[in-house]
Amino acid sequence: MSSFIRHRRLRSNDSIRRMVREHQVQVDDLIYPLFVVEGENVKNEIPSMPGVYHFSLDRLNEEIDEVVELGIPSIIVFGVPAEKDECGSQADHDHGIVQKAIRQIKENHPSLYVIADTCLCQFTSHGHCGIVENGEILNDPSLERLASTAIAQAQAGADMIAPSNMMDGFVYAIRQGLDEAGFEHIPILSYAVKYASAFYGPFRDAAHSTPQFGDRRSYQMDPANAREAIREAASDVAEGADLLMVKPGLAYLDVIYRVRERFDLPIVAYHVSGEYSMVKAAALNDWVDEEKVVMETMIGFKRAGADLILTYYAKEIAKWLQGGK
Ligand code: PBG
Repeated sequence: MSSFIRHRRLRSNDSIRRMVREHQVQVDDLIYPLFVVEGENVKNEIPSMPGVYHFSLDRLNEEIDEVVELGIPSIIVFGVPAEKDECGSQADHDHGIVQKAIRQIKENHPSLYVIADTCLCQFTSHGHCGIVENGEILNDPSLERLASTAIAQAQAGADMIAPSNMMDGFVYAIRQGLDEAGFEHIPILSYAVKYASAFYGPFRDAAHSTPQFGDRRSYQMDPANAREAIREAASDVAEGADLLMVKPGLAYLDVIYRVRERFDLPIVAYHVSGEYSMVKAAALNDWVDEEKVVMETMIGFKRAGADLILTYYAKEIAKWLQGGK
């Protein structure tokens, strides 16, 4: 009997390392976010997110074709409207930018799985995710607007509704609204556990959704809390969520793990804008090996218990996965 344990036996060459590998990242895990804007011939890079663009509808097809070509099964659509108002009327307008984009995408690529982000902050003049009165973000009046936005997205052809607003009861209200409108077959991916995070900074540049007063801490979660994540997820499961999202990703791997331990629903990790921008900036300076750092992050999400990963890196990951075969 040997006097110590030889772990290195199972690491000695690539074949055995492949054989005992516990987790994999596959192209099927990826959800690619897209920003659509009004206007013509727009493909503008977002300054704080090199490699990520605003697309007008007439330039969108080239991007979607590439996503499909790469075998990425799913996208999530974020819309930046030309006009905003107090109640975010473009959010649920039949000709709102998101609805138009979804129709166009589904027409060209019926089998690409299209997820709609359901929130009001890109559409409201105050930049909050709900209805505001006297400087307060009101919960219950927001639910009706959110349900009606989800219905408009489903009518446009969205395959899945992903509400990110963090009002109480949003899954309940949206599920009811969808069911009454005949969309009982459309699943809800709830941003169940969403923290009030500084990592959303570049997204707010991209979506023009920075709150015009105050911050989101009265509805998004305190980064100090983990047990509260279980309460948030439990209520969304009870209200009818089909998948659960944890957001941001990397600073919250423990939360993904805890949610995985408690719930059997598929879990999505959102690798958010700030996480993308930090690695991109370091990579552009040649300070890190971009592919290795990104793939290590992705495997971290899988190891923590995520089934799916929403990431601005999806196209690059898909290419790296092909190259690695
Ligand atoms: C809107 C929303 C946000 C993100 C996705 N949906 C931003 C926010 O709460 O301000 C952030 C995504 C990212 O940073 O990549 N509610």
